[in-house]
Amino acid sequence: MTDLQAEYAAHAASLQQRFEHTLAASGWQSALVYSGSLTPIFRDDQTQPFRAHAWFKAWAPLTGVPDCLIHVQPGAKPLLLFHQPTDFWYEPAPLPDGPWTRHFDLLAVPDLTAARSALPRSLARTAFIGEPPAEAESWGLGAINPPELLLPLDYGRAVKTPYELTMLRAASRTAASGHRAAAAAFQAGATEYEIHLAFLAACGLREQELPYNAIVALNEAGAVLHYQNLRRHRPALHHSLLIDAGTQFNGYASDVTRTWSFRDPDFRDLIDAVDAAQQQLCAQVRPGADWRDIHLASHRAIAQVAHEAGIIRCSPDQAVECGVSSVFLPHGIGHLLGLQVHDVAGLQKTPEGGDIPRPAGHPYLRLTRVLEPGFVVTMEPGLYFIEPLLAQARGDARAALINWPRVEALRRFGGIRIEDNLAVTATGSENLTREAFAAVA
Ligand code: GLY
Ligand code: MN
Ligand code: MN
Repeated sequence: MTDLQAEYAAHAASLQQRFEHTLAASGWQSALVYSGSLTPIFRDDQTQPFRAHAWFKAWAPLTGVPDCLIHVQPGAKPLLLFHQPTDFWYEPAPLPDGPWTRHFDLLAVPDLTAARSALPRSLARTAFIGEPPAEAESWGLGAINPPELLLPLDYGRAVKTPYELTMLRAASRTAASGHRAAAAAFQAGATEYEIHLAFLAACGLREQELPYNAIVALNEAGAVLHYQNLRRHRPALHHSLLIDAGTQFNGYASDVTRTWSFRDPDFRDLIDAVDAAQQQLCAQVRPGADWRDIHLASHRAIAQVAHEAGIIRCSPDQAVECGVSSVFLPHGIGHLLGLQVHDVAGLQKTPEGGDIPRPAGHPYLRLTRVLEPGFVVTMEPGLYFIEPLLAQARGDARAALINWPRVEALRRFGGIRIEDNLAVTATGSENLTREAFAAVA
C-alpha cells in the first residue's frame, strides 16, 4: 500500500467512525450523502456549472458527477451508487477505479429511480445530507439535513485527517505554480484577463474547476475585496496586481493571495511591511489560540504598518480603538479552509450548535473558534484604499487621524492582501502556501 492509499484508508475509517457515532447519538439509522443535482437555467436547456456537495467530496474524491449517492450504515461498507446514465449528448463519467474505491460497495445506476431501488425498502430512519432532488420527495426519507446529525458532523470537519492535509498541500502547490505564472504575466504588462488565463494554464485547470472565482485586480481594482471583473483592456499604466486565486485537488481548496508592485519601490516597501506583519501573525497560530485574539492582533499589526508608512496620524492603539484600522482592513483575518473555501462551522460553539459571537465592531469575521491541531485556516491581512470606507471616515471624527495626501498618493495601487493557508500542528503551524512556493521555485 502506498502512503496515499494508507492515508485514504485511515480517512475513510475516521469518517465511518464519526458517522456511526453521530448517527447513534442522534437516533438515525443511516445517512444518505448526495453529490448534488445539475441546476437548470430558467427556460433554457443549459445548466449551472456543477459543484459537488462538500459531504460527498469528503467521502469520495469525485467533484464532477451529479446524482451520485453514498449510503452510510453502521457496521457496513458504504454503498456508492454511481450515476452513469445512458447518454449520447454528454459523456457519462467512467466508473471510478482508484485505490479508494475498494472502501466502497460500488454500483453504477442509470438514474435516481434505479438508485432508489438499490436502497433498503424503508428509509424512514435514514437522514439525507445535501440539497435533495425533486425525485427524493417520494422516497420516504426520515429527514433531510437534520441538524442533530449535520451540526456535529460539520463541527468535526474543522480537524483534517492526514489524507485531507495531503490533498490541501497538493492544492497549495498548484496554486503556487499558477501564482508564479500570473506574476510573470503581470510583469510583462498583461491585462487582467490575460493574467487569469496564465494562472489557469499554469494550474492546468478550467475556470469552473476553481474553488472560487479568481480575483485578478490591476491598480485601483485591488480595493474591491471580491473584485469579479476580468478587464480585457490594458490600463494606461500598470501600478499593482492583487491576485486572490486558489485551486482544488480532489475537492480540497487552496485560497492564496499575493500583491505585486509593477515598478514603484515605495509601494513595494508597503507590500513587504504587510508581508512581515502577516508572518508575525502566522507565528501566533497554534493549538489553544483564540482566533478572535489573532483577528484583533491583526488590526494592531496593520495599524502599525499604516503608522510607519505615514498613512495614519495616530498611534496604532488609537487607530484600533477609533475604528480607523477597519477603514484599511474591513474583512476578517481568515477562515477555515477545506472542502469549501469558506469551510463550515467557523462560528460554531459546540458540536450541537450555537454561535461564538464575533468581537464587537468586526461583523465579517468568519472564524471565532479556538484552534486545535488539524485545523486549516487562512491568514490574510490586508491594507486597502477603499473609496466608500474612506468617504465615511472623511465625514466623521476619524478624518483627523488619517493622512489624506498620503492616502491620495496610494489610491492608484488599490490595496494589498497577503494570504497563506496554515495547518495547525501539535505545537504551532505548517504554512502550506510558503512551502508550496518554495517547492515550485
Ligand atoms: N478568496 C476569498 C477569501 O480570501 O476569503
Ligand atoms: Mn482569498
Ligand atoms: Mn480567504
